[in-house]
Amino acid sequence: MMGAAGLGLAARTAGAATSAELPAFDAAKPHVYWEAVRALYPLAPDLKYFNTGGLGPAAAPVLARTEEITRRLQANVEHGHDQMGGARTTLARFLGADPAEISFVRNATEGNSIVATGLKLGAGDEVILESHAHPGGWYPWAQQQRLRGVVVKTFEPDSKDPAGNITRIRALCTARTRVVQVSHVTAPTGIVMPVDEIARFCRERGIWCHLDGAQSAGMIPFSLRTIGCDSFATSGHKWMGGPLETGVLYVRKDRQHEVAPVHVGSYSGELDEATGELAIANDALRYEYGTRTPAAPLGLAAAAELQERIGRDRVFAHGRALVKHFVARLAPIPGVEVLSPLDGPLAGSMVTFRTSIMPHDVLFKRLFYSHGFRCRPVSEQKLNALRVSMHVFNTPAECDALAETAADILRRV
Ligand SMILES: Cc1ncc(COP(=O)(O)O)c(C=O)c1O
Repeated sequence: MMGAAGLGLAARTAGAATSAELPAFDAAKPHVYWEAVRALYPLAPDLKYFNTGGLGPAAAPVLARTEEITRRLQANVEHGHDQMGGARTTLARFLGADPAEISFVRNATEGNSIVATGLKLGAGDEVILESHAHPGGWYPWAQQQRLRGVVVKTFEPDSKDPAGNITRIRALCTARTRVVQVSHVTAPTGIVMPVDEIARFCRERGIWCHLDGAQSAGMIPFSLRTIGCDSFATSGHKWMGGPLETGVLYVRKDRQHEVAPVHVGSYSGELDEATGELAIANDALRYEYGTRTPAAPLGLAAAAELQERIGRDRVFAHGRALVKHFVARLAPIPGVEVLSPLDGPLAGSMVTFRTSIMPHDVLFKRLFYSHGFRCRPVSEQKLNALRVSMHVFNTPAECDALAETAADILRRV
């Protein structure tokens, strides 16, 4: 076994381009364009990385912006909080929101937690989640179940029929239903949930609609304004390609008063020293507090700008094309079963598969430690599967190699 250290993952990185100059996209020679995109990512040469759904690499211009801001601020010993405004405008544009609706948080879990702890709910109030929710989306509600007696109900996401998800949510609704939260794209099998319809369903019933968008921002193009959900949280360090420990929480301007911030301090409001009354900020700053590094949101803004330069539709089309390319080679392997939707509105840029020939964790380890293919083992809901994420830096040749290596491993069992 080669082992992660043998891959030289820590020590060696490819010399990556630092400028985000990209050639014009030529549909006759798309590989020229995508090779230039790939060159922006300083990935270790031996690593074939298919786990953007777990953690996405940052491109060289993102790392350069983060480092430059950090150095400048440290040289002048400034926290630079006032510089976060530009990043707020960029992320608002990227997500289809108003800057006053954008809070910078550390990750999607924190954004989900702010909503779960901040909404005024009591014992017996009901929250509906999909049973494939990630711990970062589920645990915040499980904690409210422990602390406040909130009742959590779950439905299995329908991976075949978008409308089936509405039917399943409707079946769980009662007069006590206060919140429906779904993953915009589910973590275990990458189902793109019908969020426009779910948000509409909730609006018509006065139910709060929260989206856990950890897997969606940077994978698929969308506008929160168009979706019409009440709140949304995402990670910056997955599909967006932002620096580690970045995330965004969106809460609709006209409903922010319904999500009380739990942690507050400088920037979250103003204290009237005469009366001792705290006036909470009437925008998304209410969810931010204390000293931060603007290098994180500004690095995330650089990542958003890079995706905009590539084109959000093109980013998604590339991921989808690679999924199809990969599945065409994977599906014929004897014993392989593909669990993710492959076509239509439920299909995204991740594909999860399992095999009757070998447990998923064994296949995962063989692929990674012996061959450098980093996928993601899926043990959730006893799926016993492997998840493969396709993003802008992935190539058809890598997909071929992954499918061929998996086939070879399975053939030798
Ligand atoms: C749907 C979903 N929600 C939340 C998370 C947690 O993300 P973070 O670690 O950025 O909080 C993940 C991570 O994979 C996820 O897939």
